[in-house]
Amino acid sequence: MCGIMGYVGSRPAGPILIDGLGRLEYRGYDSAGIAVLAENGGLSIHKRVGKLETLASAIADRWPNGHEGIGHTRWATHGKPSDINAHPHADCTGDVAVIHNGIVENYLELKTELATAGHSFSSETDTEVIPHLLEHYLGENEELVTALRKTIGRLEGAHAIVVMSRQHPGTLVTARVGNAGGVVIGYGGGENLLASDLPALLPHTRRVVFLNDREVAQVTATRVTYWDSEGRPLEKEPQEIPYDSVSAAKGQHKHFMLKEIMEQPESILDTIRGRAQFDTPAVQLEDIPLSKEQLAKVRRVVFVGMGTSLHAAMIGRHYMERIAGIPAEVDNASEYRYRAPIIGADTLVVSVSQSGETVDTLAAMEEAKRQGALQITICNVAGSQATRIADGVVYTRCGLEIGVCSTKTFTASVTALYLLACYLGQARGLIDKERLGGLLEPLARVPYLAGEVTKREAEFERLAHQFHRYNNFLYLGRGIQLPVAMEGALKLKEVSYIHAEGYPAGEMKHGAIALIDREMPVIAIALKDDMHDKMMSNIEQVKAREGTVIALGSEGDEELAAKADHVIYVPEASPLLSPIFTTIPLQFFSYHIALRRGCDIDQPRNLAKTVTVE
Ligand code: AGP
Repeated sequence: MCGIMGYVGSRPAGPILIDGLGRLEYRGYDSAGIAVLAENGGLSIHKRVGKLETLASAIADRWPNGHEGIGHTRWATHGKPSDINAHPHADCTGDVAVIHNGIVENYLELKTELATAGHSFSSETDTEVIPHLLEHYLGENEELVTALRKTIGRLEGAHAIVVMSRQHPGTLVTARVGNAGGVVIGYGGGENLLASDLPALLPHTRRVVFLNDREVAQVTATRVTYWDSEGRPLEKEPQEIPYDSVSAAKGQHKHFMLKEIMEQPESILDTIRGRAQFDTPAVQLEDIPLSKEQLAKVRRVVFVGMGTSLHAAMIGRHYMERIAGIPAEVDNASEYRYRAPIIGADTLVVSVSQSGETVDTLAAMEEAKRQGALQITICNVAGSQATRIADGVVYTRCGLEIGVCSTKTFTASVTALYLLACYLGQARGLIDKERLGGLLEPLARVPYLAGEVTKREAEFERLAHQFHRYNNFLYLGRGIQLPVAMEGALKLKEVSYIHAEGYPAGEMKHGAIALIDREMPVIAIALKDDMHDKMMSNIEQVKAREGTVIALGSEGDEELAAKADHVIYVPEASPLLSPIFTTIPLQFFSYHIALRRGCDIDQPRNLAKTVTVE
């Protein structure tokens, strides 16, 4: 959840750390800190509650002097956001500085043990037990890397940790335990870096190594050395990352969220490119090394994900049933992992995760792996943990998504899920070329039509301005549009802090209808599909209770225009792909309401881009 950055080399470390943390601030942003080791052996630690800019301005005219350092942006779990609770944390001697992502689940027990042994604590964090444990093992004359290995052996939970020490100049040590977010080591020339995520490294290098579970590394300016949890040396070769750091810039857009909404035609196109063949209909997915025999054995598909990715997975379920003809279920990963799911070797688990590092999704995947299921992940981040657990990957090719609120990765995930269902239907011999052609032809038009929707931003903005003062919204949908209703409500909650519910329209009469009055606008997705009549009845029911209806409908639906107070027309498209076109207006609607209300759109309060704690 937190952002981690480290540098050792010949350049001044401070500005590199602050720049790197700026690129990671989407992971957490309630406080930030850096520690830099000066050549005279002094360890200077600077920490500030608030966003990174508070720390950056505090040190702007007195950069700590030194060529190695570590930095952190925090998303608080234990201990409120404050200067003292910000990372790095030090031991009693001030020799050791630690940054950490994760939760030390047994920290109370460890803290009591350490306090009894004479260690004194200054923060309310769970993290602070780590420097004190290191101090203890260093006091037994262990090497820094061994002390870290022994320390992680004492910690329960999942962690990413980076350590520096006054007694070990020129050296950073780091460890990853479980799935608390990654550690990526970047190889430079005469310098090396590490970070929790790629964006921080890309301005410096594209040659990286991802740490696996329970691996430990020692990083100096010229060498990186790896060990497993037993202290056995490991050989790891850096891989080349294709990302372009320029894509991380906001360009002419006011917010990353807006930039990323606008990028959807391109990211959808990139996700389709080279995979769907339209002349002789076929789907090729390059990263699914599963044989036809393995795919033929699949009897059931289980989709898992969280948040926006869960909503994409819900749409994937429709695709799997309707296109590939395979019984499918969908589950919230945080529930799935704890409810003793029955997963057989004939189950295919499809996880959806933008980051590939969401802790609950990874835990659900681990459980599926333990029970012998085949797994495919829909993911946006190359090399992330989800892609390493799964047997196959369908990458969404969105580039970096910086806005905490997911937009382009949702529509790209939906596109990837559509391709996956076509691929499975084709591999299992369930859909012939003609049917596949009929499925791919409308897909080819999606990027263009998505572009047509994004051109209508001004229309959605006007509507947002009419509704930005309301405090409650109900989003209704049925069938394949239910996940869109839920996603629309999630977007509004996240960026504008307005209460919104995404609800199955058929369920409305069983309770939610009691809420409807003039103060609660209802957004109803009522396309001309097989749910149209039912949605029209629901709209009638809302109108009968003096509710205001904003409807999303098909071009030319006059019946809808006569009933609803406002209509957003979406392009005519295949019903299966229409969720992409109903989603985009709702993204704009949330964005412009949040803008009007003065919210922090790219970094909404209390949220983080990647949720690596439970
Ligand atoms: C949505 O806008 C949020 N960013 C959040 O719900 C997100 O989709 C969820 O945390 C899952 O993240 P993942 O896709 O990286 O696994």
